[in-house]
Amino acid sequence: MRIIITGANGVLGQKLVEYCIANRLTFIATSKGLNRNPNCPDYLYLSMDICNKLEINQVFDTLYPTHILHTAAISDESFCEKNPTLCHQVNVEGTALIFHACQQFEAHFKMITSDLTDNLDSEYSKSKLLAQKNLESSNYKNWSIVHFDENTTIESLFN
Ligand SMILES: NC(=O)c1ccc[n+]([C@@H]2O[C@H](COP(=O)([O-])OP(=O)(O)OC[C@H]3O[C@@H](n4cnc5c(N)ncnc54)[C@H](OP(=O)(O)O)[C@@H]3O)[C@@H](O)[C@H]2O)c1
Repeated sequence: MRIIITGANGVLGQKLVEYCIANRLTFIATSKGLNRNPNCPDYLYLSMDICNKLEINQVFDTLYPTHILHTAAISDESFCEKNPTLCHQVNVEGTALIFHACQQFEAHFKMITSDLTDNLDSEYSKSKLLAQKNLESSNYKNWSIVHFDENTTIESLFN
């Protein structure tokens, strides 16, 4: 198993990195910009903006991943309301670019998302649902979606 974690500077991404290190899994942590995860050594980190095809190709070519754990997102709902274009670019188009790279490497794509039933009209929910629809309409079926909640364990994301 060779894992790429997206959004590794984020709340969930940091927990995934911790799990990989504790369990000696082969992985690369990626996020936009510099490594800001104090528990992730720099040699296990590569900067990857999920909206940047060149950076995505470089990272995938480095690891030849078998699994992608996709947590990178603009997750701040009020920020998404104020910045709908950026929200769409990252949560929908960026996710689609990572999914496309997964297909080229025949890797499993796991998208982590939240329970979206609360406010379906929010820009954040709309972007996540659209990203999900893009997976569902694809001919490539090697993907899964986890609706992360208080009952979800970090370990289960590696199954
Ligand atoms: N944390 C939870 O308990 C929880 C619960 C339910 C669902 N989820 C879902 O899990 C996902 C991650 O949540 P989270 O709490 O970890 O969010 P988060 O803390 O906001 O982490 C998301 C990460 O994605 C990064 N990112 C944003 N734009 C990017 C881009 N263009 N390229 C690469 N990375 C980018 C962010 O970078 P910056 O740090 O630079 O902004 C951030 O580090 C979300 O979809 C969320 O809905 C999380």
